[in-house]
Amino acid sequence: MRKLSMCTALCSLVLCGMLNAEESMSMNAADKAMYAEMLENNPAAMDVAEGEDMFNSLIGKDAYAKVLGVKVKDLPKTIAGFPRMVKVAGKVVTLSQSLQMAAADRGHPVPKLESNEMIKMTAHVKSLANGLETNIDVKADKQMKEMAVLGQHVFEERRGGRGLSCNSCHSPDIVGSRLRMQALPDLGAKETASAATWPAYRMTQSVMVTFDKRMQQCMKNALLAELPLGSKEMVALEVYVTNKGKGNTMQIPGLKR
Ligand code: HEC
Repeated sequence: MRKLSMCTALCSLVLCGMLNAEESMSMNAADKAMYAEMLENNPAAMDVAEGEDMFNSLIGKDAYAKVLGVKVKDLPKTIAGFPRMVKVAGKVVTLSQSLQMAAADRGHPVPKLESNEMIKMTAHVKSLANGLETNIDVKADKQMKEMAVLGQHVFEERRGGRGLSCNSCHSPDIVGSRLRMQALPDLGAKETASAATWPAYRMTQSVMVTFDKRMQQCMKNALLAELPLGSKEMVALEVYVTNKGKGNTMQIPGLKR
């Protein structure tokens, strides 16, 4: 039943894609060489370095740890657990939102979520947890529990002109099949390590993109109305998708197609 309705929604997209020769679907040799080269030398490393300077002048580790209510030495493992409940906010926030809070706390102008400054600072701060496993805890408190439930709802809700949901393309029974030559990624898998690898440099866009922005790009492609960055629904979606890949190793900045 479920398979059938998925077929109606996706048949023109996915099934046609699957008729192409396997050969033409995978990266060609030149693309592979470029990917290997960029892995050695991720173009977003420069952005992360700039983000470090911005973070140090706008906030700094001491002030950031204070806002989160933790010791400076515990910052990396705290960072590996976002989105999380932050007491002074009284709600579950993303890492970028916690940086906004810290900037405000210091009496500085608050960078917008979509600003380059915020994208770079977010990448730097997340990279402080590189090598650790993501440790989001969706049972930590009632706020996290609520957000995980809401996030699952947003993930599975069919919207937009084609009646698609995130689950139409990212459910366990369809991941691995292809949509216009692109494999549909399992957002929880070790190889994708989705939440643990964003912000990432997108080779097709030649720019570093944050996790929530990447999800917005999927909404746009699938004709779902884009949820605004920082909205309750968007944060909840980030909670849900991050939890799918809980335990994956943080490796910021990622490198993606
Ligand atoms: C029509 C199919 C489709 C729908 C619907 C869709 N996606 Fe995707 N998504 C894809 C494809 C294909 C890719 C991989 C594209 C590529 O290789 O760059 C992708 C990639 C992603 C990634 C990046 C994975 C990684 O780490 O490399 C995330 C995160 C994501 N989608 C989240 C979502 C969310 C959240 C929704 C719902 C709002 C959604 N997607 C809806 C097809 C879809």
